[in-house]
This record gives sequence, C-alpha cells and structure tokens, in this order.
Amino acid sequence: MNEPWQWNEQLESGVQEIDMQHKELLHRVNQFMQAVNDGKREEVVKETVSFLEQYVREHFTAEEKLQQESNYPGYVHHKELHDKFINDLHKLQSRLKGQGITPEVLFTLSRTVSLWLVEHIGMADMTFAEFLKNNKI
Ligand SMILES: [Fe+2]
Repeated sequence: MNEPWQWNEQLESGVQEIDMQHKELLHRVNQFMQAVNDGKREEVVKETVSFLEQYVREHFTAEEKLQQESNYPGYVHHKELHDKFINDLHKLQSRLKGQGITPEVLFTLSRTVSLWLVEHIGMADMTFAEFLKNNKI
C-alpha cells in the first residue's frame, strides 16, 4: 500500500531542522494509518500519542524559538495554534484514558493529525518559511 501522506516540495520550508521534524511527523502519521488498516490499533495508538506528546514539546519549542529570534510578526498567532494542538492532544489523551480505543477516538486522532499536516505544516509553517526567505534569515 502506498503511504497515505507523501512528502512534497509544498511542505518544504527550507529550514533544515524544521523540515526534518516535519518529515518525522509525516512518517509517524503514515505508520499510524497503516497500522490502523492492519488492525494493530492497541500498540499504535498509544505509541502515536506518546510520540506526539514528545514531538510537540521539542518541535514547537524549536519553531517558536526561531520565530522569536527572527522577530516574526505572526509569532503570537502561530503560538496560539501550537497551544491549541497541545490542548486537543490532552483532550484526546483523557478520552483515551476514560473510554479506551473506541472508533470515535481513532477517528478524532486521525482527523487531528491529518488536519495538522494540511493546515498547519502546509500553510501556517509555510507562511513562516516565506517570511524567513523574504528576510534572508
Ligand atoms: Fe508551527
């Protein structure tokens, strides 16, 4: 089966550190989708959620630091998007604890990460990358 998400130049920010982290996320999301298709839900849901927890801590911190250092005017809004994702992830975790891996939790997790790839990495992070390019930072 083809990987559902393919890396392409539209996702490329040109900032090596950020692109590496984004590629890692894409890879994890693909693994997750594949494992769900293969019926290996238990292990992979827990693994994905704990990966995401660590990922948001490290990647968001790195990206926000870069934005502050470059005086990015969209920093406050961008940080709000990061904080919202962290909040969504926490809600998902408490639902996982309370309800276990239900089809609804699986659906929400798939939807949350897919939307993140398209709307955040594909748009908000690209706006920041454009700013870096235009200001030759
Ligand atoms: Fe971001």
